[in-house]
Amino acid sequence: MADFLLPKNSTIKKGKANKAAADAKNVKSFKIYRYDPDSGENPRYDTFEVDLDACGPMVLDALIKIKNEIDPTLTFRRSCREGICGSCSMNMDGRNGLACTTAIEDVKGEIRITPLPHMDVIKDLVPDFTHFYAQYSSIKPWLQTVTPAPSGKERLQTPEDRSRLDGLYECILCACCSTSCPSYWWNSDRFLGPAILLQAFRWLADSRDEMTGERLDELEDPFRLYRCHTIMNCANVCPKGLNPAKAIAEIKKLEIERAI
Ligand code: SF4
Ligand code: SF4
Ligand code: FES
Repeated sequence: MADFLLPKNSTIKKGKANKAAADAKNVKSFKIYRYDPDSGENPRYDTFEVDLDACGPMVLDALIKIKNEIDPTLTFRRSCREGICGSCSMNMDGRNGLACTTAIEDVKGEIRITPLPHMDVIKDLVPDFTHFYAQYSSIKPWLQTVTPAPSGKERLQTPEDRSRLDGLYECILCACCSTSCPSYWWNSDRFLGPAILLQAFRWLADSRDEMTGERLDELEDPFRLYRCHTIMNCANVCPKGLNPAKAIAEIKKLEIERAI
């Protein structure tokens, strides 16, 4: 029988435990993944007890409190604190989401927090988005035209044309969907994944864009597009309520329509 062993430094060790003050009455435990690739040490889980009576309601509030009051070396990304910038995406109790819009009370028991799955880790909860952004850049996420714009004027859309971008423009590129997609886990070197394909469809759906044929040529590839097997994890997990699987199906439909 085949024997699969993990590399030594991938074993997660038990880390430090940080207790809440003895008089804290509403205590919640956070088990947080810690890893510094530069240290040469294995990753570990540190636990932090937080007094929820002295903490905001969201998981990000707890992380900020831990960083401010217990361990300033805890590393994570955040900016807007209202689900707009996409930087606080992480995995909380096995589900990808935004720490700033995930209520602590919605996660029962101890909350285990890890970085987004299947990404290289820069430090603690900060994944490396270099490849993800390179894939985003590859779909040319900007308006491409050949016809000059009417002199001194914007390119207009009808309200109906504009509405075709609903459900697409709201994407904040948090990567919660791509990093919950099994096809992306195994083939992220070549499969663009749900986030980038949703963005690709955003430009295909734009009535002002004039590069539809070229965009479809670029996407027509057994890996870039067709590694999606409609597993639907992406739609299930998107914190903005978007449906990347539907966008991918629409791209496949456009590919078929132009081939007929
Ligand atoms: S529907 Fe496609 S893109 Fe979405 S999780 Fe499944 S395989 Fe991945
Ligand atoms: S589709 Fe949703 S989950 Fe995916 S990157 Fe955009 S906002 Fe995040
Ligand atoms: S901090 Fe901006 S989305 Fe969470």
